[in-house]
Amino acid sequence: MSGKNPAATSKTWSNRWTFMLAAAGSAIGLGNIWKFPYIAGEYGGGAFVFVYLICILVMGVPLLMAETLIGRHTRLSPLNSMKKLSSDLGASKLWHNIAWMGMLCGFLILSFYSVIAGWSLSYAWELITGVFNGMNAEQVGSEFAALTASATRQVGFHTLFMVLTLAITARGIHKGLEKGLQIMMPALFVLLLVMLGYSILETGQFARGVEFMFSVDFSKITGEAISAALGQAFFTLSLGMCALMAYGAYMPSTNSIGRTAINVAVLDTLMAIVSGLIVFPIVFANGMEPTAGPGLLFVSLTSAFANMPMGELFGFIFFVLVGIAALSSAISLLEPAVSWMSERTNLTRPVATTLLCIAVWFVGLGTVFSFTGDFKLSIFDKNFFEFIDYLTNSILMPLGGVLIAVFAGWKMKRSTLMNQLALSVGMFNLWRAMIRVVVPVCVGVVLFTTVF
Ligand code: PHE
Repeated sequence: MSGKNPAATSKTWSNRWTFMLAAAGSAIGLGNIWKFPYIAGEYGGGAFVFVYLICILVMGVPLLMAETLIGRHTRLSPLNSMKKLSSDLGASKLWHNIAWMGMLCGFLILSFYSVIAGWSLSYAWELITGVFNGMNAEQVGSEFAALTASATRQVGFHTLFMVLTLAITARGIHKGLEKGLQIMMPALFVLLLVMLGYSILETGQFARGVEFMFSVDFSKITGEAISAALGQAFFTLSLGMCALMAYGAYMPSTNSIGRTAINVAVLDTLMAIVSGLIVFPIVFANGMEPTAGPGLLFVSLTSAFANMPMGELFGFIFFVLVGIAALSSAISLLEPAVSWMSERTNLTRPVATTLLCIAVWFVGLGTVFSFTGDFKLSIFDKNFFEFIDYLTNSILMPLGGVLIAVFAGWKMKRSTLMNQLALSVGMFNLWRAMIRVVVPVCVGVVLFTTVF
């Protein structure tokens, strides 16, 4: 490939696009394609989307920059970054907890993420083998219910997904990631556009979908909707759990952090919006409810694939690509813990990764059995999957985000920050004001109301 960065060592990505790809690979995943439509549907569409977009712009982009710059400044794993920085700055050891929380959060998210990615692989298989051919939306819905009722199938595909994650992560950043992502992310985007074309031309409900997503009914902006939108903004940009800090450590020093952050946020948002614009028209055309929950993507899109020419093939490719997008996110969920374990212990990277993956796999069984209904544990009226989702999305990620913002804004030296960001003084001051005041206050208030 042209444009290699001559300064790249084995510790930095080999050219300036690679960080973008890796960060976009982390950001774009099930959060955009699976989660965004169903959460937007649950919270009434436009109002949610409106708050979500504000959160991305006002909090997401500045935080993305903060996380990346911390990683690139120290070039260490998140935990060692926080250790080094807090000792250099004479700050409390309590700041190390940002990294501990991040590792825990990544671990917990991956445990359910892998199960859902497993659904996607299972759908790819069923589509290509023609199981869905000619089915109507109701029949597709029963197929989905059968999948979530089957422990064997879910555990099987969850295992497959974890093995794939393990295989790629264990090989390290260069060999494992770079090549595949350069082809697969654009391919996913093209396929989304094909499906968008289908929603526009074939469903007859595109206008209704657009209206559902973009007409804002301000009375629907409840505290709960704001908390969900903020959580989703963090989730979709991979914020608040040190994934981007871990990746920042490999980012060449010539890359612009600000420009990269904006590119990643724009790409990520585009993917989410396009997914919504695909899903909702199909939902309306088939008389389904936008509030259907985690099955929304699987049932709506598959109903379309079931009845379009070459639907098996398109559907197969689509769900494989969703699985791959999930894989590039999964790797980043694991990276903070893997990089720490291989720096800290004398375990090799493959061994550290294997141990972690086994543990994640095991916790993931809790999610499988929440869906089958065999695991009856109920915490705050939520099943295990809903609880882990709530804990990570509504508590750990926002909390991590506030702490990272306060640390970068109030503890780190202005000169370090300026050096890393290389912005004009005006832009720098704007960024710093966001990270010092706007992010901690807004996220803090939402977090406080969520918890109490
Ligand atoms: N951003 C990913 C997605 O939208 C999920 C993720 C969260 C990845 C946190 C890494 C860290 O699917």
